[in-house]
Amino acid sequence: MKSSIIRAKYLKFFERRGHAIIPAAPIVPLEDPTTLFTSSGMQPLVPYLKGQPHPMGTRLVDSQPSFRAEDIEEIGDNRHTCMFEMLGNWSLGDYFKKEQLPWFYEFVTKEVGLDPNRLHVTLFEGDESVGKDTESYEIWLSTGIAKDHIHYYPAKKNWWSRAGVPANMPPGEIGGPDSEMFYDFGPDLKLHENSAWKNEPCHVNCDCGRYMEIGNSVFMQFEKQTDGTFKPLPKQNVDFGGGLERLTAASNGDPDVFKIDMFAPIIRAIEESSRKSYVGNEAPMRVIADHLRAATFMMSEGLEPSNKMQGYVLRRLLRRAAVKARQLGGDAKTIFSQSIPAVIDNYAEAGFISASKRSHVLATADAELTKFGRALDRGLKEMDKVKSEDLNAHFVFDLFQSYGFPYEVSEELAKKKGVVLDKVEFDKVFDAHKQGSRTASAGMFKGGLADHSEVTTKLHTATHLLHKALRTVLGNEVHQAGSNITPERLRFDYTFAGKPTPDQLKEIENIVNEAIVANYPVTRRIEDKAEAIKSGAMAFFAEKYPDKVSVYIIGANPDEGWFSKELCGGPHVENTGTIGKVTIFKDESLGSGTRRIYARLSPKLA
Ligand code: ALA
Repeated sequence: MKSSIIRAKYLKFFERRGHAIIPAAPIVPLEDPTTLFTSSGMQPLVPYLKGQPHPMGTRLVDSQPSFRAEDIEEIGDNRHTCMFEMLGNWSLGDYFKKEQLPWFYEFVTKEVGLDPNRLHVTLFEGDESVGKDTESYEIWLSTGIAKDHIHYYPAKKNWWSRAGVPANMPPGEIGGPDSEMFYDFGPDLKLHENSAWKNEPCHVNCDCGRYMEIGNSVFMQFEKQTDGTFKPLPKQNVDFGGGLERLTAASNGDPDVFKIDMFAPIIRAIEESSRKSYVGNEAPMRVIADHLRAATFMMSEGLEPSNKMQGYVLRRLLRRAAVKARQLGGDAKTIFSQSIPAVIDNYAEAGFISASKRSHVLATADAELTKFGRALDRGLKEMDKVKSEDLNAHFVFDLFQSYGFPYEVSEELAKKKGVVLDKVEFDKVFDAHKQGSRTASAGMFKGGLADHSEVTTKLHTATHLLHKALRTVLGNEVHQAGSNITPERLRFDYTFAGKPTPDQLKEIENIVNEAIVANYPVTRRIEDKAEAIKSGAMAFFAEKYPDKVSVYIIGANPDEGWFSKELCGGPHVENTGTIGKVTIFKDESLGSGTRRIYARLSPKLA
């Protein structure tokens, strides 16, 4: 079955069961400083899972392009991708287990046509805070799943939160026990016998690939407290996520997700430009296809490769794809210029990427390849200079860190010098580094809106004031082009062809601070999207909002006019006076008519 058909069937199936279809969020989150990428369908819905009413009601469904950076190094096998499309349905305090589990079962068996005998499910075995999920056991039995196809596992496998097991969750994070469904590709393919796990018994959670996880129903019931205990959420929610690529692979009875229709034009473009066949070159072609798909999404949303945060991940994706292209003996520029349009065409059809982004995305990728070429030249010079006895894992890792010089290229050069590099040693150095950066990103995870900290909420409201002030001073053609908030500062991207003068920047800052001194109330309302926009509400990525939207109005009397009105999910302060003084401390050009402005809070009003 084609992935577009499964996506459409899923949305319709849940629409018929009272769900509102909501648009997907961007893969690079707009105003959530707690995480680098949208990594699951639930992420943009966190405030609603915590109890805030959603404008579209209590039953929602969508398909969310998601990205998990931690999987980058694992790509190359038959089923891992760092980007995937997550089919998601939610109950916000509405239905629960006895509806969710039979519905998903009905969807996969009746709509997708999977053989019920090939389905296995897993359940939470319970721990000191939450009991064994015997209720779901009974429900699965009643759908027709055989007793020996239901398996209990501990929290490591059957508890879901964005941070993993309960102990890793920061205060304010939500999670709960879950039930995963697996598709069994059967013993005939000999996936287990041919895997690294062949000497261990195979089971549903084995990594050999025989059993593929196709969906996960999370019973999102708990919020972690500052004292480490778990408080039940005001309402019991369902958070379901299913991998569209994997479901499609299961429907085809072929465990290679890269063989589904969605990847076919990309793989074909790689085959043509490298003049190699997919068969026999699976691993490098999978890396290129996966990475270019993810990178294309990011670049179409305006992300630029850089050495920081999301930009760094994008840079790594493009450079890893370039290295694999080189290993295939192909020219990276040709492979990129043929594969990227294939990705865009595919997702333009599905409504995720606008075809008009094509030339921008191609130019961004091309510029990065040129930079990479220069970095490689610099790395090569270092390689030439180094003495053979110093050519070890640390040296190669330094090259990798400083120039993005890939291990595989180091290996080839080192060979010329008669040195055989030790990959195990390199991986050790690399792992030690990864541990360090994981700790850093765990810190970031704690930092902001996940616990809706006071300071990020203030900065978020200040962003709305700044947006308005920029338009007042520079003209109404100014539009938001991006936003990022950390507890230290706000960062706001906007379209403007010129350069604001120091006087204009001062005026912008004054307008923001006057709105703060005016102590305007901040009012949240639910409105019809079209009407809200007609009334003058500003919207960034209007198409990413559903038909009914929440708007934030900042002004003395929202019925009589306002200082600012924007489509936004919140959270915001109640009165602007609580924000404190805002200081603009940097404004710079990002090129192509876009600028980036930074501002921070001072503790007291001037
Ligand atoms: N949020 C859940 C997951 O990502 C459904 O698996």
